[in-house]
Amino acid sequence: MRNKTAFGAELTHISWLMHEYVTLQRLHALGAAVPQPVGVGDNAILMDFIGAPGHAAPVLHGVTLPRAKAQALLAEVMRNIELMLQHGMIHGDLSAYNILYWDGKVTLIDFPQVTLSEGNHNAHRIFQRDVRRVCEYFRLQGVDCDADALAAALWARHVRLTPDRTARDEGWRADD
Ligand SMILES: Nc1ncnc2c1ncn2[C@@H]1O[C@H](COP(=O)(O)OP(=O)(O)O)[C@@H](O)[C@H]1O
Ligand SMILES: [Mg+2]
Repeated sequence: MRNKTAFGAELTHISWLMHEYVTLQRLHALGAAVPQPVGVGDNAILMDFIGAPGHAAPVLHGVTLPRAKAQALLAEVMRNIELMLQHGMIHGDLSAYNILYWDGKVTLIDFPQVTLSEGNHNAHRIFQRDVRRVCEYFRLQGVDCDADALAAALWARHVRLTPDRTARDEGWRADD
């Protein structure tokens, strides 16, 4: 991988896919609103299809919600964000473009960029960006959403480190 050979590129590609697949498996087992993963191959992950035959679920970005519904779905998205953080994970590319909406429910997708909350110095910033992007959408739907306050409260509740510290700074293993 370091020498950037074709084989190395293949390994990098596979490890990204495996990373996403294992993350999906873990999140699904934890009760997160994610598609159920079924299998993984060299180029693709097979997972539960959200939508109906011939009609894939739209992403939340293009959906207009009544305010009460928006409030409930924000709570559900925040439940998922919190569940991930509770288990040391940050989505890393979360926004209304990576949330599907079908049958009144949200499903979070697109997990190759998941970051460990205690693994690097950017973790807090990435977490805050995810929450800000989610709030951007929900504010447009008329819901109060103070991203920085929400992010700060969740971080304080679930991450043992202040935003500028990592597990390595503290001499911990990331999975301690
Ligand atoms: N499980 C799924 N069921 C239905 N549609 C999906 C599913 N996963 C992804 N999609 C569709 O494919 C698009 C791209 O998937 P995504 O995982 O976001 O990859 P990327 O954004 O990296 O291309 C999504 O915006 C959505 O329209
Ligand atoms: Mg996407």
